[in-house]
Amino acid sequence: MKRKSKVRIGRLLLVIVLTLGIVLIGGFTAYKFFKGDNNDMTNDNKPSEVEKPNKDNEQGDTPIDNSDEAKLRKEYYFIDANLDRYLAYLKANPTKSMEEVVRCVNANIDYEFYTNEVPSNLDDGYLLIVNKYNKLGSDYVPDLVEMDDKYNHNKGYRYMNPIAYEHFKEMVDAAALDNITLFNISAYRSYDTQNILYNNYVARDGKEAADTFSARAGYSEHQTGLASDINTSSSSAHFENSKEYAWLQENSYKYGFILRYPKDKEYITGYKYEPWHYRYVGEDVAKYIHETGITFEEYYAFFIKNK
Ligand code: DAL
Ligand code: ZN
Repeated sequence: MKRKSKVRIGRLLLVIVLTLGIVLIGGFTAYKFFKGDNNDMTNDNKPSEVEKPNKDNEQGDTPIDNSDEAKLRKEYYFIDANLDRYLAYLKANPTKSMEEVVRCVNANIDYEFYTNEVPSNLDDGYLLIVNKYNKLGSDYVPDLVEMDDKYNHNKGYRYMNPIAYEHFKEMVDAAALDNITLFNISAYRSYDTQNILYNNYVARDGKEAADTFSARAGYSEHQTGLASDINTSSSSAHFENSKEYAWLQENSYKYGFILRYPKDKEYITGYKYEPWHYRYVGEDVAKYIHETGITFEEYYAFFIKNK
């Protein structure tokens, strides 16, 4: 009897200990659960969303710059050599889109006009660029031919590059078949002639205003012989409203000519809208520019300089 009773007491103690153990473990678990501290059980190895960037920063990474670079690289006209300039321009202009950043830097407008200038590359032939960053020497005179009176109405400005002239004649003749009269009033202008014109405008309107519509000597596309002012060169003539202008918009690219200073592209070209100023660049390039609406500055940066 005595032994049996001892066994019973032993079993009873075991039950009590087990019960207490279960109650204690259960109570602790419930406490942790209601305190909201249950992540350890459900999310063992996942850092929370807010921890991630902190961790990256602690390691010295720069995720924002990396993501900008990645976005820039996706832009069609991205040029590897311009990467640092894109990033600097984006930093200075945070509201601009990646596309605008690439477009502007390719056209050099992260530099002030008339700074960082280089000599125009004469090896580019009729794809030569002359603008506020690419200049011609005072002694540069291209191949020139004299224009026939049929195609020119201004004796003092009647010389043109021979290749450009051939296509100019074709264009004027094609326009005539559509009852559209086109003629040159200013093609080649020498360095000295441009110098006189520009200085006259400065004397009349001041330098700041003159720079918006007249090129300084050495920076005028007219010195290449590849450009022509057609029918007028006065904004008060409102050539943009004429049927001649409409014809040129529809057809000039077929003869290799582009509108060189388009509306709303002043910030890239450096000049006010000139609906009369056409530039010979060849049919393929003219077609591309006509179809995409990019400026010659952008075309040159990506397809010619970057080649
Ligand atoms: N009007 C153009 C920009 C020139 O002077 O060459
Ligand atoms: Zn012009």
